[in-house]
Amino acid sequence: MFKGISASMMCLNFSDTKKDLIDLEKSGIEYLHFDIMDGLFVPNFTMGPCMINSIRNVVKIPIDIHLMVMQPESKLHFFDLTAGDAVSVHVESTYHSQRILESLKSKGILTGIAFNPGTPIHFLEHILDVIDYVLIMTVNPGFAGQTLVHATLEKIFKTKEYLLSKGRDNISIQVDGNVSFENARKMKNAGADNFVAGTAGLFRKDMSLIEASIRLRESIL
Ligand code: DX5
Ligand code: ZN
Repeated sequence: MFKGISASMMCLNFSDTKKDLIDLEKSGIEYLHFDIMDGLFVPNFTMGPCMINSIRNVVKIPIDIHLMVMQPESKLHFFDLTAGDAVSVHVESTYHSQRILESLKSKGILTGIAFNPGTPIHFLEHILDVIDYVLIMTVNPGFAGQTLVHATLEKIFKTKEYLLSKGRDNISIQVDGNVSFENARKMKNAGADNFVAGTAGLFRKDMSLIEASIRLRESIL
């Protein structure tokens, strides 16, 4: 099952990425989370396939790609994906989420469907067979350092309830945005399984990465 902590790579210290990456490996972080933005689906740009490939050469932590791009079906060929990688696409970004997810799953990729805070989860109904996780955005996507959209806590709870009502206890919930120590605990209690950690919970100014990872881990026990 898709669980644990995913470190948000857009929050790395880009003047010394190697140090951060080695600290993440020492901390036992489960995934590296790459926010891929196209300046269209979200009003920002971040990283691309070259950065993923070069980071993969430094540490052996599994990767989790969050595509915040319009028509992801036309961009996926840019990525060197291998079985065991996790990839999520936004339900709002394509007319063909089922087709993309089915195709990724057939290649051994862990598949996720992502929802912006304002998007209802009823779109899950007909894609349960092709997903391993649901990404509930807990801020509007595009930027690090934002404040939690409180209504998403109930959304996490309702999503878990829905998945369990359909007998899908093997489908995880990932949360992304303002995963602070305090919010992580609330998200965990609501049903979250995987936590994307950025400036709020891991890359903090007041403590080291290793210290923050211990604190965050305690919050989601
Ligand atoms: C939003 C990003 C952020 C980031 C997490 O599009 O996906 O969620 O990774 O960082 P903080 O903890 O700063 O919200
Ligand atoms: Zn993300």
